[in-house]
Amino acid sequence: MTVTIVGSQLGDEGKGGIVDLYGDGADVVVRYQGGDNAGHTVVHQGTEYKLSLVPSGVVRGRTGVLGNGCVVNPTTLFEEIDALKERGLDPDVRVSARAHVILPYHRVLDGGEEAAKDDLAAGTTGRGIGPTYEDKAGRRGIRVGDLLDPSVFRTRLEYAVEHHRTVAEEVYGIEPGDAFDVEALFERYQSFADRLRREEMVVNCGEFLAEQRAAGKSLLFEGAQGTAIDIDHGIYPYVTSSNTTATGAPAGTGLAPAVIGDGEIVGIVKAYLSRVGTGPLPTELGSVDGQTPPDGGRPEHAELATWIRDEGGEYGTVTGRPRRVGWLDMPMLRHATRVNGFTGLAINHLDVLAGLDSVTVGHAYELDGETIETMPPTTERWGECSVIEKTFDGWEPFDPSVADDGISALPENARTYLEYISDELAVPLYAVGIGPGRSETIVLENPFELSD
Ligand code: IMP
Repeated sequence: MTVTIVGSQLGDEGKGGIVDLYGDGADVVVRYQGGDNAGHTVVHQGTEYKLSLVPSGVVRGRTGVLGNGCVVNPTTLFEEIDALKERGLDPDVRVSARAHVILPYHRVLDGGEEAAKDDLAAGTTGRGIGPTYEDKAGRRGIRVGDLLDPSVFRTRLEYAVEHHRTVAEEVYGIEPGDAFDVEALFERYQSFADRLRREEMVVNCGEFLAEQRAAGKSLLFEGAQGTAIDIDHGIYPYVTSSNTTATGAPAGTGLAPAVIGDGEIVGIVKAYLSRVGTGPLPTELGSVDGQTPPDGGRPEHAELATWIRDEGGEYGTVTGRPRRVGWLDMPMLRHATRVNGFTGLAINHLDVLAGLDSVTVGHAYELDGETIETMPPTTERWGECSVIEKTFDGWEPFDPSVADDGISALPENARTYLEYISDELAVPLYAVGIGPGRSETIVLENPFELSD
């Protein structure tokens, strides 16, 4: 049995909490794309854990796997593992031999490229994600398995450093520093290799997962970021460099598409919209300096935006940056539903909107005088869309302890809002998040109990 959890919007939909909730039914939790650009927050026994790379299921004693579609920064990997150990946990983390390694020069290049791009900058997390995936596609990357073979590692490192040193100096005008020092890098990464070897962390991911399935284990695939920042299906170029959608799960793990497709695919939806990074955002309220384009946002709603940002704690988990906020964007969700084939929805942060007189959604767009219900394929056209809104009566704040009493305990107007989303997407509601804690989620279905 497999369950795949996917962000349906722009990342930060609260996937960590849902992975944590459904993770009880899983034996193995697998990340299939991205790296330490993801920010997952898990609250376990009153303690908050913030993870950017390690699959959040390890907090509850599940085996965590970083699949071949991931890009792995060993410094972050071991920092996170050590931090969990210091807090009394014993994390079991495996890393695909085929996953690509983020090296320090990737971060330098990430910064260089962003600075050079100016208005085209994606507002990256600066973690070197894009340059590492570029190296993968450019066949000059270094994989986790290569670290374990010193002569292969050395040869590939020498080539990559030479290549990137030229780019850094001649394209970005950066003075290459320690990040481009072959000897220092070789030594440091060999010490990572020693630890990976010693702790038997490196696996042939597809084989490992197939064996787990054959042994009757349940697998949970933990998507990072969201559909609208998928490299193929997102708002290019303001995207991350991997397939964040369910599509990424087979390619990023080595299991067949049918294995993922036969399982459940749960779309995680935030009850409004938030965004870290640049580019258009048709339903944006207010604006955030350095991220909202000069002609974007709706400054007249700045106060409402600040209220939602503060109520929702909309500040980046990884970078601390204030997030841009807006109303729920239904065309974005229709697009995500088609791309991913959601079998269920988990709608989070419903509590954040409580207390507003009314709650609005972007129901459709108007583009060139026509009404469209899904996202146009280019980001520039998306930016030209005006929003056709639909407004719902608001609901009063409620005590998150109503989670125990099920959905019928929610205020009627909140239920109307949820039903609208589920009906429009023709996807059933599996869970509703009404607070940050695990007990503050109304569970209508547990996908691990649905089929086999
Ligand atoms: P990168 O993934 O660091 O290359 O950043 C590319 C784009 O994806 C930027 O707009 C980031 O803000 C965005 N991004 C990357 N990771 C996350 C995430 O976990 N949540 C939300 N946005 C993200």
